[in-house]
Amino acid sequence: MLRIEQLVKQYRTGDRALKGIDLEVPDGQVMALIGPSGAGKSTLIRCVNRLVEPTSGRILLNDLDIRSLSQSKLRLVRRRMGMIFQEYALVERLTVMENVLSGRLGYVGFWRSYFRKFPQSDIDEAFRLLERVGLAEMCDKRADELSGGQRQRVGICRALIQNPELLLVDEPTASLDPKTSRQIMRLICELCQERKLSAIINIHDVLLAQMFAQRIVGLQLGEIVYDGSPNGLTPDVLTQIYGEEDWEATIENVEEEDLEDEALDGGPDREAEHKKTPELDRDRLSGLT
Ligand SMILES: Nc1ncnc2c1ncn2[C@@H]1O[C@H](COP(=O)(O)OP(=O)(O)OP(=O)(O)O)[C@@H](O)[C@H]1O
Ligand SMILES: [Mg+2]
Repeated sequence: MLRIEQLVKQYRTGDRALKGIDLEVPDGQVMALIGPSGAGKSTLIRCVNRLVEPTSGRILLNDLDIRSLSQSKLRLVRRRMGMIFQEYALVERLTVMENVLSGRLGYVGFWRSYFRKFPQSDIDEAFRLLERVGLAEMCDKRADELSGGQRQRVGICRALIQNPELLLVDEPTASLDPKTSRQIMRLICELCQERKLSAIINIHDVLLAQMFAQRIVGLQLGEIVYDGSPNGLTPDVLTQIYGEEDWEATIENVEEEDLEDEALDGGPDREAEHKKTPELDRDRLSGLT
């Protein structure tokens, strides 16, 4: 379990990006973090693995105090937290397989990795993961030959090959078309379920967050202003998070488009369930996406 207590981040510029965040993410929970640009979403997930150094507060991963760790211990603990980025951060000239294996670099030692010699067990696991995300055929392709969706699948495999307990995901779908975005979100959430991983997913697309996450946390100006179920995202709550806007007015525009997409998709059970839940007025939220 991840526990964050009174987390504050003040950048050198004086920006107080986080103003005392308290948050617990139980094992196995997929949580979406939403909020307007500049709310502090990226800062929050980067503080968890100390890519950004917090100013004060505590971060506990299964009672291990992340802030107290030396750099060498931190490196070990970071392996327990897989990261997935919007911009994929792949090495362009390396193959898909090599990019996935690079997630194991922390384990294989510098010289072995320098000569790109990975144990057979790592290669087998990379294959299994690539197969799972539908990229087995592409393992020898160079990263720069892939589409955005394929690149993100590689990014997911690279994070998972570390065998993390927690996934930190920053805008995984921001560069993807709507259908690919859904596929990627679905994949991340299915993998979390299969591997009993918890995840914090920063996402701008409220509809996607609502469709796939078990819990939504709304951040605004460095403070949590909503923490609850996806169903609880009413227009009032959205106004609180994003500011005044006529959320109702966007309903009709998106309805048809959404149905069309669902028909194309086949749609997994979870989405189908959501469509049947009357109080979950998904379309009301579509204008935010
Ligand atoms: N390296 C930095 N130096 C100074 N200020 C920063 C830095 N990174 C972020 N900030 C500031 O901290 C605040 C939160 O930024 P952050 O990137 O965490 O927001 P975000 O919610 O991820 O936004 P977005 O949705 O645009 O990605 C903003 O006011 C931003 O300007
Ligand atoms: Mg961000």
